[in-house]
Amino acid sequence: MRIEPFAIFRHGPISQIQIEIAMYFNINIKSGICINIQIMKIIHMSNYLGIESTSHTYGIGIIEQLPAGVKILANETDMYKPEKGGIHPIEARNHHMKVRDTVLDNALKKSGLSLDQLDFVCFSQGPGLPPCLKVGLEHAKELSRKLKKPLIGVNHAVAHIEIGKFITKCKDPVIVYISGGNTQIIIETKNKYKICGETLDISLGNAGDVVARELGYSYPGSYYMEKEHGNYIELPYVVKGMDVSFSGIATEAVKKYKSGTKKQDIAYSFFENVFCMITEVTERALSHTGKKQVLLIGGVASSPILQKKMKIMCSDREAECFTIPREYASDNGAMIAVAGIKYKNILNPDEADFMQKCRVDDLSQV
Ligand code: FE2
Repeated sequence: MRIEPFAIFRHGPISQIQIEIAMYFNINIKSGICINIQIMKIIHMSNYLGIESTSHTYGIGIIEQLPAGVKILANETDMYKPEKGGIHPIEARNHHMKVRDTVLDNALKKSGLSLDQLDFVCFSQGPGLPPCLKVGLEHAKELSRKLKKPLIGVNHAVAHIEIGKFITKCKDPVIVYISGGNTQIIIETKNKYKICGETLDISLGNAGDVVARELGYSYPGSYYMEKEHGNYIELPYVVKGMDVSFSGIATEAVKKYKSGTKKQDIAYSFFENVFCMITEVTERALSHTGKKQVLLIGGVASSPILQKKMKIMCSDREAECFTIPREYASDNGAMIAVAGIKYKNILNPDEADFMQKCRVDDLSQV
């Protein structure tokens, strides 16, 4: 924590979160305005560390919160890439254990800060793969205890949303969250995030990876498969109201490949179908809600093909389509730190645990 040579006065009652922070720092909460000044120094001039470790990526971001706004100082990542097949949770955990200290050192170097200049330690609490989540949790606990700084648990999906809003400054979008593990259409209503459409089976990213593996593309297969140019062939197109389904498309795509269809044609047709399905349900969400903005988040949502389709649809509906750079769309530590500022879910390092499953609509307030 850096104590600046000036104080910001705040009028009115102290909020619950300010009281919690004051108690954490052993600030005397009986001394009225003086406490207010100290608390505001902590809240307005603080450095947040964010640790991401839900799946394939170990990421550490450092951000600075100033009265004028939030600035990302560093966002370092190291990604586990399986030599064969999909993500193996134990291998991913071993990768994270191996790289965590180097990623932290790199982030500190990039930010120009030292460990003792950090004020809050945020970590991705879930959902995710338990062995991977545990590495981030233990790292965050160690740092929180060592630095004697508050530990903040962050929902991974909410962090994707908050970094998207932070970068694009969009206000009230239909959120399209597509990654290796998730496919959801989310809206904010009455201070709550609500999932209004989602996959009925596997995620789009997962379906893409299954097909890519069978077709012989190396990891990350979806990424390479998407770049193929081929001819359109008939594949299932499964939209049910606001929901979508991908497993049947993946099965049929693999079946056609094994029957001799060119893999370029399958790759092209698979993404043509699944991205059109997502665009269709997003358009339906715009129509139902009357919203005029779309925000694409998650690693798969940084696909240029999907973004092009969404932009055409939005333009037809006189809506805005917001996208973010891949660095922030994929899993990263900066998004955990950005969400940590907003939610301040302060946990006791001796009791904190990860949450393997937790949906954005389980959270009561945004
Ligand atoms: Fe993610």
